[in-house]
Order: sequence, then C-alpha cells, then structure tokens
Amino acid sequence: MKKKPWRMDTLLPPGFVFLISILLFLNPSNASQIINKCSNATSEPFIQCLLANSIPHSLLYTQGTTSYSTLLEFSIRNQRFNTTNTPKPLAIITPTIESHVSAIIGCCKMNNIESRVLSGGHDYEGLSYVALGTPFVIINMQNMSSIDVNTNDNTAWVQAGATVGELYYHIAEKSKTLGFPAGLCPTVGVGGHLSGGGIGTMMRKYGLASDNIIDARLVNAEGKILDRESMGEDLFWAIRGGGGASFGIILAYKIELVQVPSKLTIFAKSFNFSQHSSLVKIVSQWQDVSYRLDIRLFIRQFIQVSSDSKGNRILQVKFESLFLGETEELLSIMHKKFPLLDLQVQDCQEMSWIETVQYFAGYTNGEPLSALLERKSQFGYSFKAKSDYLTSLIPEFGWKRIWDDLLRSNATVLMIIDPLGGKMDEISESETPFPYRNGSLYNIQYLVAWVDGDQSVVNRYLDWIRGFYEFMKPYVSKNPRAAYLNYRDLDLGTSLNGDLSYFERTQWGKRYFKDNFRKLALVKLEVDPKNFFRSEQSVPPLNLY
Ligand SMILES: Cc1cc2nc3c(=O)[nH]c(=O)nc-3n(C[C@H](O)[C@H](O)[C@H](O)COP(=O)(O)OP(=O)(O)OC[C@H]3O[C@@H](n4cnc5c(N)ncnc54)[C@H](O)[C@@H]3O)c2cc1C
Ligand SMILES: *[C@@H]1O[C@H](CO)[C@@H](O)[C@H](O)[C@H]1NC(C)=O
Ligand SMILES: *[C@@H]1O[C@H](CO)[C@@H](O)[C@H](O)[C@H]1NC(C)=O
Ligand SMILES: *[C@@H]1O[C@H](CO)[C@@H](O)[C@H](O)[C@H]1NC(C)=O
Ligand SMILES: *[C@@H]1O[C@H](CO)[C@@H](O)[C@H](O)[C@H]1NC(C)=O
Ligand SMILES: *[C@@H]1O[C@H](CO)[C@@H](O)[C@H](O)[C@H]1NC(C)=O
Ligand SMILES: *[C@@H]1O[C@H](CO)[C@@H](O)[C@H](O)[C@H]1NC(C)=O
Repeated sequence: MKKKPWRMDTLLPPGFVFLISILLFLNPSNASQIINKCSNATSEPFIQCLLANSIPHSLLYTQGTTSYSTLLEFSIRNQRFNTTNTPKPLAIITPTIESHVSAIIGCCKMNNIESRVLSGGHDYEGLSYVALGTPFVIINMQNMSSIDVNTNDNTAWVQAGATVGELYYHIAEKSKTLGFPAGLCPTVGVGGHLSGGGIGTMMRKYGLASDNIIDARLVNAEGKILDRESMGEDLFWAIRGGGGASFGIILAYKIELVQVPSKLTIFAKSFNFSQHSSLVKIVSQWQDVSYRLDIRLFIRQFIQVSSDSKGNRILQVKFESLFLGETEELLSIMHKKFPLLDLQVQDCQEMSWIETVQYFAGYTNGEPLSALLERKSQFGYSFKAKSDYLTSLIPEFGWKRIWDDLLRSNATVLMIIDPLGGKMDEISESETPFPYRNGSLYNIQYLVAWVDGDQSVVNRYLDWIRGFYEFMKPYVSKNPRAAYLNYRDLDLGTSLNGDLSYFERTQWGKRYFKDNFRKLALVKLEVDPKNFFRSEQSVPPLNLY
C-alpha cells in the first residue's frame, strides 16, 4: 500500500478514520499487537495513524519493549542523558523512505505530539532525543543513510542519517584524490553536523562542511518534500549552518567534494606542562601564526587535564596537524613560521587523505578502514561542553593562568583550540548563518567529562565548567560573546521560556548567529509560522510585535 504524503492544509485526510478501522479490521493480529504494545493511551492514536499511513510496524519502537530501550540507549551519545529520570519518547520511528517522514510529521501534528529528529545523536544537550515536559517521539534517521558519490562532477548525495565516517569511507572508495571538509569524529551524523556548520581539519582551505552544500531535500512543516529549487534560497540558506531542527527534517544533502593530494602529512607533538618551562613561548608562537599560515596547514592545540595513576594532576598540551602536502615542504614552512616547535622529519608521517581521517578519529593501531563505518561512539562518558571564539591573542600571562585554573579541576577536562583563517576569512558574514569569519582567529571548545555520579557530582562538574567559562571571559570575543551551534550549550538560554519576551528568550541566537539570527527568525516565520519544529534552542518565528 503506497500512499502519497497528504497535504497538511487539509487537516484530516478524507476517509482517514475509516481507513484506520478497515486496517484494524482486516488485520486483527496487527491490531492486538498495537493494543498490547501501547497500553500508553497517548501514543495509541499516533501509532494507529502511522500504520494507516504505510509506516510498517517493524519501524516502530514503542515504550516498554526491549528493542525500544536498546535503540534509545544506542542513540544516546552523552551519558548525562542516559538516566531513568530523563524524559523518554512515546515511540521511536526509523523511517526508511522519504514519504515515511512526511507521514510521521502528519501524525505528530494530528495528535499534538512533538517530534525530535536524530541523525547521529551527538547533540551536546541531547536535543535530538530528549524533550522536557511534553509528549514526543524520536524520528531516528539512521536507516536513511545512503551515499551516492559521483566522480564525474565531484559531488555526492548523502542522506541525513549517514555518519561522516560513512561519507569519508565511500568517497575514498571511489577516489584517492577527493575528500570532504567536515568534522573529525566519524560517528557524527550528517543531519545535525552539516546543518549546524561542521568544522574540521580542512576548513582553512575549504571552509565549513556547510559551505560545501549545493542542494538539499527536506520535509517541511506541511509534510511536503522540497529540494533547493522548491524550498527557495532563503530556506536553503538557513539549513546551511542555522541548524536543521528549526526548519524541517533534512532528508539529504548534495555536497561538493574537494580535491586532496594523494600524499598528505600529519604530525603530533605533546608537552607535559610541568616539564617544560618554555611551553608558554611555544604556545604563544603557535597562536601568533596558526590562523594566518599557508591555508593547506592546520595546527590545532589540544589541552588535556587528567589524573595519573598516583592521583597527580597532569596537564598535557598537544599540537595536532594536517598538511595538504608533503613532509619536506611542511618542514620548510614550520622552520620559517613556527621554529619553536622544532619539528623534525621523524615527527611527520605521510599518508593518504582517508588515512588522515582514520588518524584524527583515533584509529592509529592498524584498525581496518571499515572501522569508519562503526556507528557506536567511542566516547562513552557524561559530559558538558561550551565554546568561544578568539578575536585577539591571549597574552603569555593569560596562558599561565589558564593552565593553573584547568589544573584546579577534578575531572577529565579538554580544551581544543582550532585555527580559522584562510578560506574562512573569504566568506562574508551573511553568506550563510555561520557568521564567525574574517576577524575570528580561533574556535575554542571546553569539555568536562566524567563517569557516572549522582546529581551532586554532576552539579560539581557543571559548576566547574561554568566557572571556567566565566574565568575565560577577558580573553575571548565580546558583544556578543560568540558560541558555535554544533557545540550546543543550553546555558546560553532557551526559547521555550514563555514568561520572557521574544527578545529575552532569543539572546542565545545572537551568540551563535550574530545578525544572521534575524534572518533565520524571518525564514522561520515564513516556513513554520506555528512553530511545529521546536525545541529548547530552536529559532522561534520572528515576533513582529
Ligand atoms: C565526539 C564528538 C566529536 C565532535 N567533533 C566535531 C567536529 O570535529 N567538528 C564539529 O563541527 N562538530 C563536532 N561535534 C559536534 C557535532 O557536529 C554536533 O553535535 C552535531 O550537531 C551532531 O550531529 P548529529 O546528527 O550527530 O547529532 P543529533 O543529535 O542527531 O542532531 C543534532 C541536532 O540536529 C538536529 N538534527 C539531526 N538530524 C536532523 C535532520 N535530519 N534534520 C533536521 N535536524 C536534524 C537534531 O534534532 C539536533 O537538534 C562533535 C561531537 C561529538 C560528540
Ligand atoms: C506513558 O506511559 C508511561 C509509563 O508506562 C508513563 O510514564 C507516561 O507518563 C505515559 N505517557 C503519557 C503521555 O501518558
Ligand atoms: C545507558 O544506561 C544503561 C543502564 O544504566 C546501560 O546499560 C547502557 O549501557 C547505557 N548506554 C550506553 C550507550 O552506554
Ligand atoms: C535498518 O534496516 C535494516 C535492514 O535494512 C534492519 O535490519 C534494521 O532493523 C533497521 N534498523 C532499524 C533501527 O530500524
Ligand atoms: C607526560 O607525563 C606522563 C605521566 O607522567 C607520561 O606518561 C608521559 O610520557 C609524559 N609525556 C611527555 C611528552 O613527556
Ligand atoms: C576538587 O577536590 C578537592 C578535594 O576533594 C575539593 O576541595 C575541591 O573543591 C574540588 N574542586 C572542584 C572544582 O570540584
Ligand atoms: C579581513 O579583514 C582585514 C582587516 O579588516 C582585511 O585587511 C583583509 O583584507 C580581510 N581579509 C579578507 C580575506 O577579506
């Protein structure tokens, strides 16, 4: 039974109720299953609606079944939201074709149920699988993950439920000299990552993942399936950095692949803080040059603080680098621009692009290429993260204070500082929703991670990272203090606080998007005026009054 997605402007499709009765009547075994599985009164009409609209029963996971818990827990990437107190969806649906997604949106609207869409499940605040105070379902896109690489015109169509690891794998399968500039962690999903930006090791030459999108397919709030042409340039603009979840369900993106050399070079050099009195000089030189080096060269600083086996706190500074070229040229650039690092030929390794992907994914022990297809995250902790941008350089005394403050933490703490510049500077602030272009030198991510603990333990870590964020204030961007959408942070505010004015409850929007927030809110007003696609940090339709 194939049924076209109905149009949402006709509220109840004609004969709808009739259709359900027929379906239940003709298929009693199915009916009893529904009733057994859904003792939960609220989800029953919703489930019936799905079944009546050609969603196979096998794609529905309802509360109380083992497969529901397994699928839900598998999707949760931040163990902070893997607790019994975390609100759970009424159901999880795993659509396999585009029309399923339209049907799910229709049934959600009809039953007044919110939907959350999950592609890779890496949302830092769990917004793809948790909704507070409202019945909701999860649309899990993992089974819409096909990837079609075209080496004639160097493009690919990739469905939203694919991971970037799968994408990289399939590009490399077709060509040794094509790549795609997106994030480092292979289990990150295309739906969230590309719609929210996507920073990675090649951004200084090729920009963000979202800068390389050339077409898209999406289901809008009316359940219609649109592509770039039918959605129009404003909506297409919004879903390239503004976050997909405010505007619809992204089904797929068409992306432009980029040229990579057949041989690239990577290096990593680490320093223990306590053993290196000249570290502050090295860090300062790195900071002074990295955002304006040759655009083929990416050197990030990775600070990790943890305890050794004797309980001593260890702060390690690591410089990790990708160069789109060979060792000899890299060494000559480094000796000229960043001599204090004292890079030697034995610190460098030449490899293919896909091997650099494996390297940055942490697969350095001879794992097969197919490890990039593994969907289970390697990162099984509870965590909280925050972000900043640097628009000026941190002075030497600043770095020393930062290290001292980091060492006062009690948990595993990361601070990752990625250089921008290059191609990032050439794109205007309003070309896409991501505004941190020329003038932004570095992106910073702070992350505190821990293994289980009760609420008081959790609160201690949350307090720590919030305090550290306050501490960093003098060194980072101001007016607004910028943040990166893909490192989502609900401390910046939530649009669902109905007691606040539109202006007050959208302050977080300025932090992610600067002046582009207004255009996002206007697009939202046009495409989803009733705010069907909403979450704690979705863009509300612009309130004109
Ligand atoms: C270990 C780790 C490493 C990371 N590394 C990087 C990195 O190198 N660079 C970087 O830029 N970011 C990185 N991130 C952040 C990552 O880009 C974001 O968390 C991103 O939003 C994840 O996308 P997802 O599909 O996996 O997540 P999800 O949790 O599935 O989705 C994130 C958000 O997007 C929405 N969404 C998901 N799918 C769709 C869809 N099909 N249509 C509309 N909306 C959708 C969700 O509802 C949610 O609001 C990393 C995150 C983790 C946990
Ligand atoms: C559904 O059932 C669960 C327990 O079976 C209950 O906790 C939840 O509140 C119910 N949901 C609604 C919306 O009634
Ligand atoms: C989530 O918690 C459950 C129960 O505590 C646990 O069994 C499961 O492994 C956790 N999920 C993940 C992905 O770690
Ligand atoms: C995804 O599809 C595969 C077969 O294509 C199926 O075996 C699997 O159960 C599906 N997964 C989910 C979560 O629906
Ligand atoms: C840093 O210290 C740790 C723990 O003492 C040690 O294992 C590691 O080898 C040191 N690293 C460097 C680069 O000196
Ligand atoms: C770290 O632990 C010490 C001793 O247990 C405690 O005094 C201190 O407050 C803790 N610091 C933080 C940031 O939690
Ligand atoms: C970036 O801004 C600086 C200072 O305003 C300017 O000199 C430079 O040309 C700009 N770079 C690009 C690529 O536009």
